[in-house]
Amino acid sequence: MVAKLEEVPLGKRVLDCVGELGNVWLVGGAVRDLILGRSPLEVDLLVEGQLDEVLALLGGSQQRFDRFDTATVELEEGTVDIAASRSETYPHPGALPVVAPAAVSEDILRRDFTINAVAVNLDQPTFVAHPDALADLSEGIVRVLHDQSFADDPTRVWRCARYAVRLGFQVDQHTAELAAAAGPGMTSGERFGHELRLSLRETDPTQIFTLVQSLNPAALIEGFEPRPSGLSSALDLLPQDASRELTTLAACCAGVEMSLLTRWLDYMQFSADERDLVAAASRWVTGEPLRAADRRSQIGRAARGAPIEAVALAGGANARLWIEELRFVKLEIDGDDLIATGVARGPLIGSALEHTLDLTLDGEVRGRQEQIDAALTHVEQAVQGQ
Ligand code: CTP
Repeated sequence: MVAKLEEVPLGKRVLDCVGELGNVWLVGGAVRDLILGRSPLEVDLLVEGQLDEVLALLGGSQQRFDRFDTATVELEEGTVDIAASRSETYPHPGALPVVAPAAVSEDILRRDFTINAVAVNLDQPTFVAHPDALADLSEGIVRVLHDQSFADDPTRVWRCARYAVRLGFQVDQHTAELAAAAGPGMTSGERFGHELRLSLRETDPTQIFTLVQSLNPAALIEGFEPRPSGLSSALDLLPQDASRELTTLAACCAGVEMSLLTRWLDYMQFSADERDLVAAASRWVTGEPLRAADRRSQIGRAARGAPIEAVALAGGANARLWIEELRFVKLEIDGDDLIATGVARGPLIGSALEHTLDLTLDGEVRGRQEQIDAALTHVEQAVQGQ
């Protein structure tokens, strides 16, 4: 397994720096992925004893969290999370754990699922694992380590679904029963938000949402649709500069009542910009006028100012035309050009520019001079009409 780790750039860097210390273990997801023949994206290390020597040898940019004796190291090749091996007890369900130093064999038992309760020493050929770990990995089963697991940490319902979908595993029957009984506990919205974001980054979040819903419907907000129709065509339309994740979330939230939705997104610590985007796109605000438009200028008026994610969700040929072509059409003039010809400052300038953009989109006006002429004509007509 260590030889396989060497083939991954991040793994090689870790092995080169701390592979011979003897007290450093690769643990959790990276070990699971190596056993399954997958390439680990992140590396988690467990250290028996102090972290100082490991951190000094690894270099990179480091953040240390003394309360839990853990650290995160950013290297060119990727991220390494490091923890001193420890036991954890939860003073009450959902609370932050109380930690104490412990052997690696004990540390792995505080984890979420058997498939993650695996560790291998970087120096010695020593492997420790939960007794069911290897069988569950080979049979493809997601199983909690103990009956309190979801009560300790209700975000594990999301993790359970995420692993099952990503790895194509089944959720063990008893684990599913425990997940069904899990309440929200006292876990922070930020941690649920983190799990939701991780799910949104997976290849098919809608499968994860579907599984979360069948495991524990209360984990999803009222009105949330795990498999919204129209999402895959919206994602096909979505350009590189838009967010797949927020588009997916917005599509799933189209049926969630607006004030509930914004409160839920705030609770999960989505930023104000993300919240507003999801809220706007979830209503498919540009849908009707955009679909009904039959001139390029009408498409522009319907789509301008809306998040690109909303336009993609509205769907159809007009949305495609806007995303691929029309949104890049810009005027070669601005308000200052009109003021320079003697037009007074005021709202008329804005409407003249908008009118000129309409004409430009419809191909009736080309180039800077024609745009100035068209804008001035609009101003004159408006003044005469007053
Ligand atoms: N863990 C846990 N309960 C949580 C979060 C994490 O028990 N709520 C444990 C898991 O055993 C996991 C380890 O902490 O293996 C590291 O967490 P994380 O990096 O989130 O998971 P990975 O296993 O690395 O999975 P992924 O491939 O999704 O990154």
